[in-house]
Amino acid sequence: MTDIVARRTRRDFLPFNPPLVGEEEIREVVDTLRSPWITTGPKTRRFEEEFSGFVRASGGAGGALALNSCTAAMHVALACLGIGAGDEVITTPMTFTATVNVIEHVGARPVLVDVEPDTLNIDPQRVAAAITPRTRALLPVHYAGHPAERDVLEALARAHNLALVEDAAHALPASFRGVPIGAGRNPVAFSFYATKNLTTAEGGMLTADPEFIEQARIMALHGMSRDAWKRYDQGGSWRYEVIAPGFKYNLTDVAAAIGLWQLRKQDRFHRRRAEIVEAYTLAFGAEEALEPPVRRPHVEHAWHLYVLRLRPQALRIGRDQFIDELTKRNIGTSVHFIPIHLHPYYRKKYGYVAGDFPVAVSNFERLLSLPLHPGLTDHDVADVIEAVLDVVQTYRR
Ligand SMILES: Cc1ncc(COP(=O)(O)O)c(C=O)c1O
Repeated sequence: MTDIVARRTRRDFLPFNPPLVGEEEIREVVDTLRSPWITTGPKTRRFEEEFSGFVRASGGAGGALALNSCTAAMHVALACLGIGAGDEVITTPMTFTATVNVIEHVGARPVLVDVEPDTLNIDPQRVAAAITPRTRALLPVHYAGHPAERDVLEALARAHNLALVEDAAHALPASFRGVPIGAGRNPVAFSFYATKNLTTAEGGMLTADPEFIEQARIMALHGMSRDAWKRYDQGGSWRYEVIAPGFKYNLTDVAAAIGLWQLRKQDRFHRRRAEIVEAYTLAFGAEEALEPPVRRPHVEHAWHLYVLRLRPQALRIGRDQFIDELTKRNIGTSVHFIPIHLHPYYRKKYGYVAGDFPVAVSNFERLLSLPLHPGLTDHDVADVIEAVLDVVQTYRR
């Protein structure tokens, strides 16, 4: 057994999702550092303009605001919508805690509803049933990069006079019925965290109609009516007015410098991700112990994550041991996500029990994310496939 593992194990550890940063990004960062302006300024503005074009933001260049995280983008969006104490926001348990934390940050109550069994996106039928007179917004997550059913959600939002705020941390580039995620007039939040499809180390983008973006721009910089770049530029004035107690959420030009080149590489990155997904699914699709991710025909999937589900009835080991076995074979993995209601803060505050949201929980218990990034070589992909199939072979029931 040890021999088999040793023979099949790749030599070096394959990390889960490292960033792919090239010389162009490095040169642009150095250029920024050598310039007189290193925080929010001309490169951030250019990044916003190019990003708006990429996702076909509704208001053109004025339809995107660069921020220092997706969390910041969602927080500022909820604040600008005036959501607060006494309000409810409907979201999914199958997400990173940031999605739900921001609802707490504005003092509102997160209302979790269970997910669809195939995509693991929020279930629109259950959303309809969870709407109350206190509901102010829907906050779906495009889980793993597969767009949620945003036309149904949008119709529900319209019918009940609710805001629709999308957590698109995973969803670049993605589209729903041919329309890019981020192209609508409603607020959509993207993440540029280190593992994301586009990274600026830390960063994010909010898209919405230009009027909303102008309001968000002010709220994201102390609630000041004029940003620093304009104040310090030649001909600028030192005067500013604080019109609300805003946040400090602006992106720096150093980060935007990375983002500009990452954005220009997105099409190539996405093609490579799709190729890797195809190779994985071809290898795992016929294996009864494995359930590859789905893609509904009317969406373009961002393929941020390759979430593989195990069929427990076909294996003698569970997900945790499956991960340990892949680690032994030098394959890095992750789990997305521990359902929100299992975390102590949310469990205690809202009295959730483990049996709540059974679709999210039963899938969480049998899923893992495999390495998926454009830096993977064909050899790496073959190593992942071989390791996964070897674990299945070894522990088949
Ligand atoms: C679904 C989801 N939403 C929000 C976030 C938060 O993104 P950021 O770290 O840019 O704030 C993440 C980050 O991992 C995420 O996975």
